[in-house]
Amino acid sequence: MPPAERGCPMPPASEREERRRRFFDQAAEGWEERHYPPEIRARLEPFLARLATAPGLTILDAGCGRGILLPHLRRLGGRDARLIALDASAAMLRGVADKDPGAVALHARAESIPLIDAYVDRVLCFAAFPHFEDQAGAAREFHRVLKPGGLALVLHLASAKAVNRHHEDHPAVRGDRLPDEKTMRDLFLRVGFVRVSLEESADSYCFSAEKEGKR
Ligand SMILES: C[S@@+](CC[C@H](N)C(=O)[O-])C[C@H]1O[C@@H](n2cnc3c(N)ncnc32)[C@H](O)[C@@H]1O
Repeated sequence: MPPAERGCPMPPASEREERRRRFFDQAAEGWEERHYPPEIRARLEPFLARLATAPGLTILDAGCGRGILLPHLRRLGGRDARLIALDASAAMLRGVADKDPGAVALHARAESIPLIDAYVDRVLCFAAFPHFEDQAGAAREFHRVLKPGGLALVLHLASAKAVNRHHEDHPAVRGDRLPDEKTMRDLFLRVGFVRVSLEESADSYCFSAEKEGKR
């Protein structure tokens, strides 16, 4: 197994969070090959259309992993889009430069985003929200870094039930859950989001929340 990477100093994490971080560090090599077969890749870009991107937007991919979404975000957002890829695992972030040389990689927790207030137009959180130790804290940070009128999206290519069941099979992420709909809405409404909504089907989950104000 490769040694865990630390990168820049991260704030002290709980034992559980540390274990999770080691798990993702060690899983980074070969991540896409294992988790993104062609049939899943083919679904990514149409799914990301929900981001409603326009040229030149600043998009934060929170829990970006190896940066699998970046080429899609670049195509959707265009040459002038500013892509910011954030992950708590340094080993995962090593994939980012290969995916998009223009993307900025941030080694940080979603609960403590090293960006100034009102800096991004979109926050995208794909297949990562259940793993955040402090989900309310992450929602608060999403709201803080978004510009007025900005949009946060929590996305999965599976239903909440399937996501939660999947995590139960892996000791390092057992108990990492997508909250039920009411809890999820309350989490985001409580930190100031408006127009929260959930669209879910057997093979997709799309939670969106808007920051009040004019775009
Ligand atoms: C299941 S992976 C998904 C990665 C990527 N979005 C993808 O689809 O390939 C979850 C990611 O969330 C990251 N993560 C876990 N907790 C985090 C936190 N508190 N802040 C930021 N990233 C975190 C992990 O390091 C991991 O890369």
